[in-house]
Amino acid sequence: MTAGLVDLTDTDLFVHGDPHAVWAYLRANEPVHWNPSPDGGFWSLTRYADIHDVYVDPGTFSSEQGTVMGGSFGSAQDSATGQMLICADPPEHRLLRQQVKQGFANSMLALIGESVRLYADRALSRIVADGGGDFAVDVAPELPAGVLAAMFGLSAEDAHYLLALTRNMIGSEDGEYNDGDLALVTAQVEIFDFLAELADSRKDRPGHDLVTMLLNSCINGYPMSDAQILYNCLNVVVGGNETTPYTACAGVAAFAEFPGEADRFYASPEVLPTAVDEILRWTSTNAYVQRTATRDVVIRGVPIAAGSKLTLWNASANRDEEVFDRADRFDVTRTPNHHIAFGVGNHRCIGQTVARQEVTILFDLLRERGIRFELDGPIERLRSNFMLGTKHMPVRVV
Ligand code: HEM
Repeated sequence: MTAGLVDLTDTDLFVHGDPHAVWAYLRANEPVHWNPSPDGGFWSLTRYADIHDVYVDPGTFSSEQGTVMGGSFGSAQDSATGQMLICADPPEHRLLRQQVKQGFANSMLALIGESVRLYADRALSRIVADGGGDFAVDVAPELPAGVLAAMFGLSAEDAHYLLALTRNMIGSEDGEYNDGDLALVTAQVEIFDFLAELADSRKDRPGHDLVTMLLNSCINGYPMSDAQILYNCLNVVVGGNETTPYTACAGVAAFAEFPGEADRFYASPEVLPTAVDEILRWTSTNAYVQRTATRDVVIRGVPIAAGSKLTLWNASANRDEEVFDRADRFDVTRTPNHHIAFGVGNHRCIGQTVARQEVTILFDLLRERGIRFELDGPIERLRSNFMLGTKHMPVRVV
């Protein structure tokens, strides 16, 4: 391999190839790598220390021009800029985050926990009764469905409808979910329509849900605008729906690949907390985030011009040999484990407690009920370099 041949926009690599091998090569040979692309190119950072430093300096590395390559909310003129958490910089970001945080308060976490356990338990009972199935379709989406039911007050049917919409958005490059040039925009418009209708109904009939909380929220003495409410609900539903199901799949796949680690996990309930963090590190479903340099900077001697895009590859940082002992080993008792699957700094995942809760509930149920799976066919991965997703994962209950 040579650095010139590396192309992290090549989604074939993420469907059929081994992106971890490419990141390992970049970490060792060119940790600040220029990747040409039709959009003008971008820098890729693959070392933990460099990625960490960029995350904690939002003044120099802005989120306002979008955090996904070539994705939505990508231009300085986009109306989401400064209104939606993920593409806001301080001080607007802090003001928005204070409001959205209400949806993650302890009382809500308790409701989410109950709901997720119910959804996951039911799905596991079904797949056990069938002797197996497609874990990615039959079980994994039930985790965010349980979250949506509690956090947005949705019925199971509406939760699954919204899940299908967010899958179309994040899977907009994957023919199974969407096709055509306008796939991304169409998916977003449909999600906005759904959320706008929900907000209208909550104006008449308030509930104990995030939409109602935001409808009653003020920023600098003014009620949040409809746009701010919709953008931030969109941010939460996409952030929640399109991450944890993939983490769940890749976690179950890791247990199938490393049966010795699965034995250690199933033998002892005390292993659960470290196993959850190792699953998060190992799977790093949100492969990268993007920032834009606001001034000329130098990283590891490489000059980076103001206006350049930088991609921070969390999935690579979490296998950095300089930080993690035997980084390429899945170890359910790994301690310490300072992974950055949720990012770092002011944008650090606002849903991380919910995500941990979902993964913990699923794996706790698996251990408690003694349910183990083996793979029963090839895993089909999502066509995306942003989410390390699993579309299909046939499993057999053993
Ligand atoms: C394993 C699961 C998850 C992973 C790997 C993950 C990863 C991340 C990362 C890396 C960021 C930082 C983005 C940046 O710095 O630009 C982030 C932010 C965010 N996540 Fe998550 N996430 C997960 C689960 C969730 C869940 C369950 C929710 C909601 C229920 C959620 C909602 C959000 C939101 C709203 C933000 C934006 C926060 C901000 O900009 O202040 N995420 N997530």
